[in-house]
Amino acid sequence: MAILQFLLLFLCLYPIREANAQKPNILLLMVDDLGIGDVGCYGNNTIRTPNIDRLAREGVKLTQHIAAASLCSPSRSAFLTGRYPIRTGMTGHGGNKVLMWSAVSGGLPKNETTFAKILQEQGYFTGIIGKWHLGVNCELRNDFCHHPLNHGFDYFYGTPFTLINDCEVSRPSEMHMKFKKILWFYAQVFATTLLTLVAAKIWHFINISWKIIFAFTFLGTVYFIYWYVAYAFQMYWDCILMKNFEIIEQPMDLEKKAGQIVGEVKAFINRNKEGPFLLFVSFLHIHTPHYTTKEFRGRSKHDLYGDNVEEVDSMVGEILDAIDQEGLVNNTLTYFASDHGGYLEGMEGSPHLKGSNGIYRGGKGMGGLEGGIRVPGILRWPGVIPAKTVIDRPTSLMDIFTTVTKLGGGKLPQDRIIDGKDLMPLVQGLVPNSDHKFMFHYCDEYLHAVRWQQTSSDTIWKVHYYSHKFKPEGAGACYGSKLCGCSGDQVIYHVPPLLFNLSNDPSENNPLPSDLALYNEVLQIVEEAVVHHKATLHPVPHQLNVLNNIWNPRLQLCCGTFPLCWCNKGETN
Ligand SMILES: *[C@@H]1O[C@H](CO)[C@@H](O)[C@H](O)[C@H]1NC(C)=O
Ligand SMILES: *[C@@H]1O[C@H](CO)[C@@H](O)[C@H](O)[C@H]1NC(C)=O
Repeated sequence: MAILQFLLLFLCLYPIREANAQKPNILLLMVDDLGIGDVGCYGNNTIRTPNIDRLAREGVKLTQHIAAASLCSPSRSAFLTGRYPIRTGMTGHGGNKVLMWSAVSGGLPKNETTFAKILQEQGYFTGIIGKWHLGVNCELRNDFCHHPLNHGFDYFYGTPFTLINDCEVSRPSEMHMKFKKILWFYAQVFATTLLTLVAAKIWHFINISWKIIFAFTFLGTVYFIYWYVAYAFQMYWDCILMKNFEIIEQPMDLEKKAGQIVGEVKAFINRNKEGPFLLFVSFLHIHTPHYTTKEFRGRSKHDLYGDNVEEVDSMVGEILDAIDQEGLVNNTLTYFASDHGGYLEGMEGSPHLKGSNGIYRGGKGMGGLEGGIRVPGILRWPGVIPAKTVIDRPTSLMDIFTTVTKLGGGKLPQDRIIDGKDLMPLVQGLVPNSDHKFMFHYCDEYLHAVRWQQTSSDTIWKVHYYSHKFKPEGAGACYGSKLCGCSGDQVIYHVPPLLFNLSNDPSENNPLPSDLALYNEVLQIVEEAVVHHKATLHPVPHQLNVLNNIWNPRLQLCCGTFPLCWCNKGETN
């Protein structure tokens, strides 16, 4: 009887196991804000990134790997869905370029399909460890409509938002400050209540012009309090560590983050070594405030910025070691990238803490310039993808969607346009060119530039419709305003557009003369592609507009009873 049961069990399980055994694990490593010029194997000779370099040696290094946008929320939405942000409503809008708080109603729409969702349906255990920054709630504090667990991930450990300067406490007296802040809060609640009562009392006794003055003062006070509460307590509102739907640290303890993330990744790999798994490690590094664990502080030649890069490289190393130790290396597709180019403007007060985009002009927040969108991109899968290979064809972060969907045995959604292409034929050396004929480079919702891979002449062209007005002029970045604007008087509209031959002018220094016959031939082909592209766009709700992007206390994640939100539940590893 027992044998029969065993046989039945064996027969039932076997086909599934076998099918799964053929599916590779997918390990996706993404660093935040890392510039292509910050990495050793992409030409940096003063920052040490031996682990990222090792990955490149063991696989394919893409040298024209392009983000769909030069800022976090849009770029990450495109990465997960394989679709340009303009198709999903995740572009900057009305001055907002990313999701500005964790307590906003915008985020990756429910009806978008991530690769995690597709692989989950194919039997993968799917996890994301690290940064999300694609929204949390829609209408209530705990509806979690945009949460990773409602977008195809089985496991989430990390911050629903992102690192920001406000996450770093001005030490030394943290407890004291916390106490002070709570006191402040109550003082204001008290003041508002008092004001309201007084207002109600004296309203009847004053004449109309006083009523107007009074109303304005009252609204002003309420506005001030909203503003103060939102900003003064931002560390509590946004610097949150979650495990699935549970808040573990509010605010999070930055000193522990690197260790916790690596620990979680190792535990995840260990738990799921029977596979197949999909793990998206979305590092909090190297976003401002470049928080670096003590052990790595002061080690690099580039101040805290370099320390932070070297720390994340060592985290990559530990993760690669874990893959080796579990014996998964030949059955795991490992991918490494940055979500967009390095941040040139740097942190206020310490402008030297900034990234490098190597020979490429531009950086984070810009529209079409290479520096904002050309990022490191490495794929390794020993025995399947050749080692020590460099590929210079245009590829996109969105390609991961299509590539892993196919590798996992899933089908691409048929009811929508998918912009990502399958990378496997290219990285396996089966075809000479990528499937991207054209790529469209947006700044917020404005099309700033278009890239054309002309295979017949082996040339990459790029047309720029807009350029940024740098501050100061010619500086190559927008100092003093943190990020460049995308429209209006913050840009220069080029008539005729600028055309660059990226193949021999990768730094985009020498536009072709517009009276050249070649200029007109190329421009005409690109213009047709733009018309065709625009015809495929449909209006969708703006996820980042003012209403969807304003701090809403009702949506605030809260460990405790709002507004008293804090906790530290310690380590549960
Ligand atoms: C290496 O990176 C640092 C920090 O971004 C930068 O200052 C330096 O110029 C880079 N070096 C090269 C050769 O790109
Ligand atoms: C998702 O819903 C929005 C608004 O209802 C709609 O405009 C959009 O086309 C939908 N997207 C997909 C992929 O179905």
